[in-house]
Amino acid sequence: MENIANLSEKQIEIERQLGFCERVREIVMNKYGYKPLAFVHTYGCQQNVSDSEHLKGYLELMGYGFTDDLNEADLVLYNTCAVREHAETRVFGNVGILKANKRQRPNMLICMCGCMAQQTKVSDRIRKSYPYVDILFGTQVRHKFPEFVYRKLTQGKRVFENPKDDSGIFEGIPVHRDGTFKKWLPIMQGCNNFCTYCIVPYVRGREFSREPEDVLAEAKELINSGAKEIMLLGQNVNSYGKNCQHKMTFAGLLREINALEGDFRIRFMTSHPKDCSDELLVAMSECEKVERHLHLPVQCGSDRVLKAMNRHYDSASYLKLIDRARELMPNIQFTSDIIVGFPGETEEDFIKTVELIKRVEYYSLFTFIFSPRPGTPAAEMPDTESKEDKSRRFSEMLKVQEEISLRLNKALIGKKVRLLIEEVDGDMLIGRSSENLVVRIAGKPEDLGTFKNALIVDFDGVLHGKEI
Ligand code: SAH
Ligand code: SF4
Ligand code: F3S
Repeated sequence: MENIANLSEKQIEIERQLGFCERVREIVMNKYGYKPLAFVHTYGCQQNVSDSEHLKGYLELMGYGFTDDLNEADLVLYNTCAVREHAETRVFGNVGILKANKRQRPNMLICMCGCMAQQTKVSDRIRKSYPYVDILFGTQVRHKFPEFVYRKLTQGKRVFENPKDDSGIFEGIPVHRDGTFKKWLPIMQGCNNFCTYCIVPYVRGREFSREPEDVLAEAKELINSGAKEIMLLGQNVNSYGKNCQHKMTFAGLLREINALEGDFRIRFMTSHPKDCSDELLVAMSECEKVERHLHLPVQCGSDRVLKAMNRHYDSASYLKLIDRARELMPNIQFTSDIIVGFPGETEEDFIKTVELIKRVEYYSLFTFIFSPRPGTPAAEMPDTESKEDKSRRFSEMLKVQEEISLRLNKALIGKKVRLLIEEVDGDMLIGRSSENLVVRIAGKPEDLGTFKNALIVDFDGVLHGKEI
């Protein structure tokens, strides 16, 4: 019920922001005398990519065009990621480089947003040591971007805004979509899980799902405008719908999108094993448009470490999900995220991870060495293991995975797949199958964005297919 009262307030807020877009448009036309250009760079996950599409939607309404060339940009926007230290170091480096650009183009507006910007320690450092950054705003107030630009342009003072704001989803923000036939569709925001190593719940705030009718309306719009693949986005899509007025589970949502007319494919990420229900696996298996691929991050194979990570499942229940999914969808492929070197993770724990990797036989893995994130519980946990041991284990794991991937790829020879042609590479095409396999195939550039049936004929580091 609370949502109803909120709804109109939120609509009014977005109307206000659209008003700022109009005003900024006039100001920048007068200021520059030409259509100014924005350079938007996105770090981090798909959620951030999708946010950038919305920020670009605002920029378009503010009168900006887009450029990939920093040297001709009138506005620079870095949408940042805080998930690992390395990600942050890179951003600080790249923001440092902007000093020279600003000297050459003093009228350039430099803006920084996203998960790093949401953190006070980052905004303090930027305020002090990077005086040429004009606007900094956190993820939780990103819907106010036009207002921040307006304030900077009219008052001249630097704008720093990263308060906590858990008011939920703002519908109606304009979108500038980059992809032509592959589209991102955010279905929720935030995260409530507080895995002990992870900064995301702190920077993204609480979990909120979009109402099913808003998601479905946008899905329809995307399909009507030529989408061949829709990627549903959320930090934990399996818990979709908890706050919605119209109760719906993620399985239900998949079924509804699957029922929409058109030839398109549905992908989703990310799934959390603790919320991966049998209802969802059954829905996947019964929905022909849903990919036969499940990215199900396990993080590690030791129950002791899983507990310390606050993941709320153990290796046995995880393997049950894998077996059930395989039973329902024999051709399914799995991928996962693994963290090596969580505080106190011993050789014995690591061996359990390797055993689990071998047991599941993932098609591929996203592998990370634990990076302590200040403010998270794991950053305070005592560690007994050396850096050398962690790197050795990391390499060992990669080797194990390489062997599995090679074996799985060879076993794919002779299999039939349906490819969405995603890229043209010289006189060849590159397509992706429902199982998330990337396959090279002969064809014409006009085939881009179409589906093709293919037989996998070879693997020599890449899969090769023949149209059938
Ligand atoms: N919400 C998603 C992914 C979030 S971040 C999920 O729960 O699966 C993507 C991946 O980054 C995580 O799955 C994890 O493997 C990794 N990661 C997150 N925090 C990390 C840290 N502090 N150090 C190393 N890897 C981390
Ligand atoms: Fe981070 Fe865990 Fe949330 Fe994923 S589910 S974003 S790993 S806290
Ligand atoms: Fe990074 Fe934020 Fe995504 S921390 S991984 S951009 S949610």
